[in-house]
Amino acid sequence: MRAHVELVVDGLDAAYGASQVLFGVSFEVGRGETLALMGRNGAGKSTTFKAIAGVLPPRAGRVSLRGEDVAGRKPYRVARAGIAYVPEDRQVFPEHTVEENLEIAQKSGPDGKAGWTVARAFESFPMLVPLRRRMAGRLSGGEQQMLTIARALMGNPAVLLLDEPSEGLAPLIVAEIGRLIRELRAAGTTIILAEQNSRFCLAVATRVAVIDKGSIVWRGDVAQFRADPTVQSRYLQV
Ligand SMILES: Nc1ncnc2c1ncn2[C@@H]1O[C@H](COP(=O)(O)OP(=O)(O)O)[C@@H](O)[C@H]1O
Ligand SMILES: [Mg+2]
Repeated sequence: MRAHVELVVDGLDAAYGASQVLFGVSFEVGRGETLALMGRNGAGKSTTFKAIAGVLPPRAGRVSLRGEDVAGRKPYRVARAGIAYVPEDRQVFPEHTVEENLEIAQKSGPDGKAGWTVARAFESFPMLVPLRRRMAGRLSGGEQQMLTIARALMGNPAVLLLDEPSEGLAPLIVAEIGRLIRELRAAGTTIILAEQNSRFCLAVATRVAVIDKGSIVWRGDVAQFRADPTVQSRYLQV
């Protein structure tokens, strides 16, 4: 049976100035699912996340979180409604320690839930424990990626958007991020993962949406994706 629908993206158009990049992007994510938004470089994955998060206000369409349309709201209001966005560039406060970065981000979620605390973050991200007092600006790329995900969780979001979390990281860190995503799903977190790396995606996702030239061209579950030999060769780098 289909999970309860958490987020509906419907008919999303977005543009940078005169250049339209998204054309009616539509998909749904069920509560507790991990949706992989897959597509080649330049397909529109990051723009989809920016449009959902309010960083690039969409020109048209609906972003409905638990039935509430948040499309076109300012980023802080989208975040407050329960959508946490982790952009590609791993923003941390470089002049603050790892622990301070987590403390700054701590707040209750849209439903008043506060399941994520600094202590829980260190339990789920054991690699951050020995780095607790280190300045975030001095972390490696992989450590910063862990910290940005942990920071996003500190806001107790309903939906977590992760833009290419495995990009450019060492295999050991990629495996650790994969483990984390599976653990988050087991705890009921709803996740959308933008990725070009289908091997990583398929190991952690439950459903797949493929984007190409700013439109969704394929949707299904991971088993259907694996069983469809043309979709990978047509729309993804192999
Ligand atoms: N700030 C920007 N200004 C103008 N065009 C952009 C900007 N960012 C991305 N684009 C263009 O939008 C399209 C989609 O980009 P993007 O969403 O970043 O793709 P992806 O994340 O799938 O690699 C590409 O053609 C890209 O060149
Ligand atoms: Mg991108």
